Amino acid sequence: MSSDSYNIRKAQHLFGHCLDPQALQRAEGRRLPEFARGSNGRALKSWSLQELPEVGQVIGFLRKPQRPLAAAVFVTKGGVLKTTLTLNLARMAALHNIRTCVVGLDMQCDISTALGLDQELDSSDSLSDALARVNSIRGLADVFTNESSLTDVIRSTDIPTLSFIPETPELTALDQSLMAKNRREYWLLEKVIQPLKSNFDLVLMDCAPNWNRLITNALVAADVLISPLECKINNFRNFHAFQRLIDEFRADLNVDFRHVCVPTRLSPSRKLSAEIYRWYRDHIETCIETAIRESVQGEEATAMRLSIPEYSPSSTAADEIREALREIWSAAGEKAQDLTKPLAAGDNHTTSEATGA
Ligand SMILES: Nc1ncnc2c1ncn2[C@@H]1O[C@H](COP(=O)(O)OP(=O)(O)OP(=O)(O)O)[C@@H](O)[C@H]1O
Ligand SMILES: [Mg+2]
Repeated sequence: MSSDSYNIRKAQHLFGHCLDPQALQRAEGRRLPEFARGSNGRALKSWSLQELPEVGQVIGFLRKPQRPLAAAVFVTKGGVLKTTLTLNLARMAALHNIRTCVVGLDMQCDISTALGLDQELDSSDSLSDALARVNSIRGLADVFTNESSLTDVIRSTDIPTLSFIPETPELTALDQSLMAKNRREYWLLEKVIQPLKSNFDLVLMDCAPNWNRLITNALVAADVLISPLECKINNFRNFHAFQRLIDEFRADLNVDFRHVCVPTRLSPSRKLSAEIYRWYRDHIETCIETAIRESVQGEEATAMRLSIPEYSPSSTAADEIREALREIWSAAGEKAQDLTKPLAAGDNHTTSEATGA
C-alpha cells in the first residue's frame, strides 16, 4: 500500500476512531465510499488521499459547519504554533470533507510553504523556469489592484477539499495601501472572506505575530479568533496585554468574534510550564482543556507538510492534536450557527491605530 493509500485500519488510525465502520453503517446508515477497481478489475481495498475526505466524513470527528465559518489564528507572539495549528486544522478539516481555504497573511510565507508552494517551485528544471514560476504567483495584493480575480489566486493542494491563497512579497505593500482606503478595516471581509464563504465551509487565516492592518482586517472578518498561548513565562505576560487589546478592539469596532485559546508548547515535566498551563485553564474562560506539548512529531510533521495525525497517527502528539481540534471545533461551532455578523460601523475608522496597528 503506498503512503497515500488508506485501508480501513489506516483510516481509523488517522481519525482516531475506535468504532467498527460496519457497525457504524448498520447503526446509522452512514456509508463509506466504495473502493475503486484495479486494472485486473478487483476492488483495491484501499482509498487514495483524494478519496479520503468522503471516508473522514463518515468515521471522523469533525462535522461540517451548518454555515461557513471564518477563523483567524492570531496572537501577538512569534513561534507559538500559529502556523502549525492552522496547518493541522486545515488538513484535518479538509480530510473530513469540510471544504477549506487557507488565506496566508504573514509575509514569512510559512503556511504557503507548509501547503506545498515551495515544493511546486523546487520542481523547476532551471533558474529561469523557477523565476518565471515565482513571478507568476498571484496573491491578495493582485486582487486588491484588480490585476487578478479572487478565483485566479486560489491554489489547489494534494487534498481535493483543501485550497489556499498564497502569501506574496507584495503583502507588505497591500498592508500600506489599505491605510489610504475608505472602510479600510472591511476590505478583506467584503472582497475576500465573504466571497470565499460561497464556495468553502471553512476559511482559515494564518496571521503574522505583529498587529498590522491585515490583522485588523482579519479580525473584522473572523467569526472565531484562535490564539495559541505558549506555556512559557514570556507568553504568560504577553497574554494580559493581548487580551486588553482584543477587548478594546471588539468594543471600538463593534465586532463579536468568539475567542478560543489553545495552550501550546507545554513541557509537563517543567514545574513552571505545568503551572502556567493550569493558570490558563483555570482563569481563561475560553481556553480549551487540551494542551499541545513540545514534541518531535509536531516539528517533524510540519517539516513534512502534514498534520500530526497523518504523519504519526498512533502517537500521543496525534491524540493530543485530535482532541485539541475537537475542542476548538466545538467552541467555534456555536458561532457557526449564529446568523448574525456585525455590521460595518462606518467609514474611516481609526481603531487600528488605537490598538497599536
Ligand atoms: N509540538 C511541537 N513542539 C515543538 N515544536 C513544534 C511543535 N509543532 C511545531 N513545532 C515547530 O515550532 C516552530 C514554530 O512553529 P510555528 O511556525 O507554527 O509558530 P508560529 O506561531 O506560526 O510562528 P510565527 O510567529 O513566526 O509565525 C516550527 O518550526 C514548527 O515546526
Ligand atoms: Mg506562523
